[in-house]
Amino acid sequence: MGDAMKIGILGCTGRVGKTLVSRLVNGGRHKFIGGTASSANAKLGFDIGEALGIGTLGIALTDDPTIVFENADLVIDFTNAQALEHHLPLAETKKVPCVVGITGLEDGHRRTLERVSKTIPLVYAPNMSFGINLLLAYVEKAARLFGEDYDIEILEMHHRHKADAPSGTALAAGKAAARGRGRSFGDIACVTHKGRRRQGDIGFAVMRGGEIMGDLQVMFVSEGESFSLSHRTFNREVYADGALKAAEWLYQQKAGLYDMQDVLGLKTATS
Ligand SMILES: NC(=O)c1ccc[n+]([C@@H]2O[C@H](COP(=O)([O-])OP(=O)(O)OC[C@H]3O[C@@H](n4cnc5c(N)ncnc54)[C@H](OP(=O)(O)O)[C@@H]3O)[C@@H](O)[C@H]2O)c1
Repeated sequence: MGDAMKIGILGCTGRVGKTLVSRLVNGGRHKFIGGTASSANAKLGFDIGEALGIGTLGIALTDDPTIVFENADLVIDFTNAQALEHHLPLAETKKVPCVVGITGLEDGHRRTLERVSKTIPLVYAPNMSFGINLLLAYVEKAARLFGEDYDIEILEMHHRHKADAPSGTALAAGKAAARGRGRSFGDIACVTHKGRRRQGDIGFAVMRGGEIMGDLQVMFVSEGESFSLSHRTFNREVYADGALKAAEWLYQQKAGLYDMQDVLGLKTATS
């Protein structure tokens, strides 16, 4: 276990951000030094702990990420893709390692992550849970072993508030499967089936409803059998715990762009 850190949370009033702050202030080894919300947040200037209903912390809620980057050893970002565009240049200037858990990133965001990671350590992972990352490693292996006689279909279900579809986790599963097959994901991803299925495609099905935290099923289906790998998330603590594990690991690393497979040592574990 590494040194104790001063950690800032961008998006600390969000579903995952809130869980992270609670984890840090309730007996965590690391110190919570501040966090942001959007400029529209009605609680800006209020005590963060009081705004989150977890007691007084003596830190005011801000929409200014600069303050957080100036005071933190490491920053965890669970805001959104648009906000990330402002956060990455700050991380670069202030030389603060970052754990980024935002989904719905576009190619431009990825290029910025890669550029910034030349000077600071970054973890980017659309899903921080241990179970999901283990599943991704097995999806890659299964896709390699089954080959193209088995159709790959990915089914995911999330809560009604989710902004992106398919989810970042479902896309990560698709990319793992494409890697396993030695194919480019862009060439074989089929986000919505229209008409007859093309052999070799990776299909996606998306469902949204209520407060479902996250269900994922990756199916390999041939004419004779069906094989599935599945995962269900029960609470957001798995994301918060994964992000904190990534933070502890990242603080010991040199500049570079890492994922949860690196953090959890899964790249070689299932080969
Ligand atoms: N990697 C993983 O394991 C994982 C797991 C779950 C979710 N996610 C992803 O993480 C992200 C956050 O998820 P969530 O469910 O926590 O979302 P959420 O509940 O909507 O929270 C978003 C947070 O970002 C803040 N925010 C919004 N716009 C901002 C801006 N322009 N500048 C600064 N802060 C801003 C919000 O502030 P206000 O409260 O003021 O709106 C809030 O604190 C999403 O992309 C989600 O898909 C990743």
